[in-house]
Amino acid sequence: MKLLVLNGPNLNLLGSREPDIYGLQSIAELEKSCRQTASECGVEVDFRQTNSETELVEWLQEAFTNKLHVVLNPAAFTHYSYALRDACAAVTGSGLKLIEVHISNPHARESFRQNSVISAVATGVIAGFGFSSYHLAIRQLAGR
Ligand code: DQA
Repeated sequence: MKLLVLNGPNLNLLGSREPDIYGLQSIAELEKSCRQTASECGVEVDFRQTNSETELVEWLQEAFTNKLHVVLNPAAFTHYSYALRDACAAVTGSGLKLIEVHISNPHARESFRQNSVISAVATGVIAGFGFSSYHLAIRQLAGR
């Protein structure tokens, strides 16, 4: 089984961006740890990051077309992108699973972060566990 692990804007700056919130590890280290978890679970991950809403929508459409489950950190798009929400709804509406993940706990932060336009169309949400949010999501999708 192959899973898509998709990351939204500014997550390419992990390790240097607001390290008190997002930690000191880079996105390369996040990718490596996701690959490690996936291999422990006997699944494959296709790990991607973009700063572009268009590209993220296209990747979700790819998941829909190719029937792939998704781990998605929509980053700031979480809070306002209806285009991303509709793409996620297409994925979950077709019976595929999509887990929304966050490194931080947005509910414990600024008020604008406390609303997600994605959560209502996600299969589930895992937030606040650092990189482990991704690992828990991969394990869940792998059935472990
Ligand atoms: C984030 C939380 C979002 O509010 C923020 O815009 C991000 C990262 C997280 O992983 O904690 O860029 O999705």
